[in-house]
Amino acid sequence: MSVIGYPLKRSLSPVFQQAALDHLKLDIRYEALPTSADRLSEAIQGLRAPEWLGANVTIPHKEAVLPLLDEVDDLCRRLGAVNTIVNREGKLYGHNTDVAGFLRALREDGGFDPAGGRVLVAGAGGAARAIAVALIDAGVASITFINRTFSRASRLVKELGSQAVDTELSALPDVFVSWRAATISCRLLINCTSVGMAGTKEEKDSPVPIELIPPGALVFDLIYRPTKTPLMAAAEKCGAGVLGGLPMLVYQGAASFRLWTGSDAPLEVMLKAARTGLSASGGREG
Ligand SMILES: NC(=O)c1ccc[n+]([C@@H]2O[C@H](COP(=O)([O-])OP(=O)(O)OC[C@H]3O[C@@H](n4cnc5c(N)ncnc54)[C@H](OP(=O)(O)O)[C@@H]3O)[C@@H](O)[C@H]2O)c1
Repeated sequence: MSVIGYPLKRSLSPVFQQAALDHLKLDIRYEALPTSADRLSEAIQGLRAPEWLGANVTIPHKEAVLPLLDEVDDLCRRLGAVNTIVNREGKLYGHNTDVAGFLRALREDGGFDPAGGRVLVAGAGGAARAIAVALIDAGVASITFINRTFSRASRLVKELGSQAVDTELSALPDVFVSWRAATISCRLLINCTSVGMAGTKEEKDSPVPIELIPPGALVFDLIYRPTKTPLMAAAEKCGAGVLGGLPMLVYQGAASFRLWTGSDAPLEVMLKAARTGLSASGGREG
């Protein structure tokens, strides 16, 4: 098995997936397969060989991979994105475990039931879309997207409209007054941008003005490197609940593991390996 993405220098999946396979004494290798866009079709075709159980797909190929597969499930069609491919006798099936990973982390690690709540999402990329579909299915009352590129946020609201029967969706421009208006009533604030990620120009920044973080909310930052982002540190300081991105990453991987092997993933082993992998790289790469 492998993870297919590009450039893939920092993927943690090989670390915790291999730890799980070894723990269960399964004679299977999981490796990183850096694949540029021009080689994607060839790499996917290669997965049809009997020695491949499947693969994970990550940035930037989650959308491009759809037409290369034989079948994709309903969730992938709604998201327009696949993160897990299963090879069954040469036929390739697409699934998406990001949604399940997100909801599990929110409920089990955040202790948060999203039903009926008002949610504020920073960002409007692929992760924001997956999270929004998860939250719509979980019955939230409203989702507001604030994104650097406003047109992308309003397009996302439009595209998700038909799926959101009981959820009010809105987009606001990334300016202080938007944050002030949206943070007043939100119970859950989720960072789906890369602002605050180690190794980027914005690693010391928060996507949200920190003076507006609502103390009564849960702040969920999807970033897992570093384990405590500037947004999380500020949220902790003002008394808000805080959740980082590592549990979601591991839970989506555990769901993929089950699809490939038919076995429950050894979660504790995976979490431990992921944490060790992160700290071995100072939380900055891996
Ligand atoms: N924990 C997990 O399992 C997990 C899973 C998926 C993703 N993630 C994390 O979620 C984040 C987003 O991933 P993605 O797949 O959605 O990526 P993506 O599709 O490339 O979207 C990136 C988002 O970040 C925004 N952004 C980037 N640089 C910015 C800046 N300097 N200032 C303000 N906004 C900025 C983009 O805004 P524009 O539209 O203006 O470019 C866009 O909304 C990443 O940090 C990723 O690591 C974590």
